[in-house]
Amino acid sequence: METVENFNKLNSIKRNEPLALIPTMGNLHLGHLSLIRHAKELNLSTIVSIFINPLQFGPSEDFSKYPRTLEADLDLLIKEDCDFVFIPDDKELLHDIKNLKAPLNNFLCGKSRPGHFDGVLTIVNRFIEVIKPEFCIFGQKDFQQQLIIKEHLKKINSNTRLLTHPIVRDKNGLALSSRNGFLSKPRREEAAKIYSYLKEISEHIFNYDQDEEKFLEYIKTLKDLYQKKFSEEGFEIDYLELVNALSLESLKIEDKKILIAVAVNYAGVRLIDNICLTRSIS
Ligand code: PAF
Repeated sequence: METVENFNKLNSIKRNEPLALIPTMGNLHLGHLSLIRHAKELNLSTIVSIFINPLQFGPSEDFSKYPRTLEADLDLLIKEDCDFVFIPDDKELLHDIKNLKAPLNNFLCGKSRPGHFDGVLTIVNRFIEVIKPEFCIFGQKDFQQQLIIKEHLKKINSNTRLLTHPIVRDKNGLALSSRNGFLSKPRREEAAKIYSYLKEISEHIFNYDQDEEKFLEYIKTLKDLYQKKFSEEGFEIDYLELVNALSLESLKIEDKKILIAVAVNYAGVRLIDNICLTRSIS
């Protein structure tokens, strides 16, 4: 694996196959590694960036606490046979950066973390400008993030194509996240309830066979019921939403692709998860 620390070296890397960028903030886990494996299955060369992006953290968020585990990350990348790791210098990367405004920002995490997606988009756009990868790969756990980047790439007519990969979960169902490391083992077990509830909601929607006209009412009832269940289990809900999975807007009766998304605080840790499902409407 070749380490790249500046733009000069980036320009001189040998590209034998099309290149896939996997942007990360380090503290790598199986979720990240699955993105590398996905790229390898597609015969792509891989470049993983490791950069804890200050632009995407709000003033009261956990930037300084964010786990920094570079040595372990590099070991994992070598084991995965990653081709390049890009560890940019803050000054070079952020110099004269074009601050972007993220689309689809008025929903879900965008509402509760003002400026977060602007920061994400600004940095990812910078990576794409300097690396010029054929592909970039994002996990679906950050569903809104990948949708925002996809929308942006379309808008600027980028040559970089976005690929996604399903959420990777712990055996108990908890979606893998660097923030899980802030939870004790028993708390991680309890947090698996998040996915159980999402699955229950999606099964209810899937099995809905009542009057179509009443579907939206049913969705509202489901949402109220599960908000209550989450609270009763000690989850402090930021949002639980059932929305159109393409636009993130409120559901309409005719919508087929539905996103069930949740963000909670549990034991002081922000956790997000989602299920995306397709309804067949007769
Ligand atoms: O998903 C993340 O880890 C970050 O938001 C990303 C895409 C690496 C941008 O800093």
